[in-house]
Amino acid sequence: MEKLEKIYEGKAKILHKTSDPDLLIQYFKDDASAFNGKKKGTIVDKGVMNNHISSRIFEYLEENGVKTHFVKSLNDREMLVKNLEIIPVEVVLRNVAAGGLCKRLGIEEGRIFDEQPVMEFFYKSDPLGDPMINECHVDVFGWATKEEVEILKSAGLRVNKLMVEFFKERKIRLVDFKLEFGRHKGEVLLGDEISPDGCRLWDWETNEKMDKDRFRFDLGRVEEKYQQVYDLICAE
Ligand code: TMP
Repeated sequence: MEKLEKIYEGKAKILHKTSDPDLLIQYFKDDASAFNGKKKGTIVDKGVMNNHISSRIFEYLEENGVKTHFVKSLNDREMLVKNLEIIPVEVVLRNVAAGGLCKRLGIEEGRIFDEQPVMEFFYKSDPLGDPMINECHVDVFGWATKEEVEILKSAGLRVNKLMVEFFKERKIRLVDFKLEFGRHKGEVLLGDEISPDGCRLWDWETNEKMDKDRFRFDLGRVEEKYQQVYDLICAE
């Protein structure tokens, strides 16, 4: 498998072509950004930890019947993934009130949603700052078909259920997280990464934050908390 030219560089990852047009190499950087790129910084070894954390979670999801772009981990910072046509709709699942939901709706942080998670859609657009959208926008503007939206919803709920259990076994509360999907050979696959960059993770006992909110709000001990998540997930 030969690594060819870079085809995309985002805030936290780089995608390279390979000698197989169906496969890409996803490289994880240490760069961190927040508030739509207004805050920038580095989290030492984040790329290594997020690559391993994401690999482990994709493996777990695949073992449980979720179709993902993950093929295999290549080294500390790279994984081999299927080449997706990205659907520009971010799916956010929330089990506990935090972040944007509290700000937007005035719900107190920490309220637990016992009955069902809250699901939200955002339009994936850096220039627009990923605005919140609904199914009607997705349909009218053609970002995904009605069938695809049904897959995003059912896969989102299934992934949430699996991940809540996965993290609970490791004494972590999965507060919320973001998923991205893409098309590949007629199927919709889960893409991107699953790591403390795109999930809110709280210590089950103390509610201490173990995710990118530590970077966003200058809470300190960022690397230490990423490392703890890494150890709980990858040192099995
Ligand atoms: P929010 O509270 O800022 O809307 O974010 C909800 C969760 O989704 C949080 O874990 C961060 C993640 N997220 C991203 O990683 N990228 C995004 O563009 C969005 C909208 C959310």
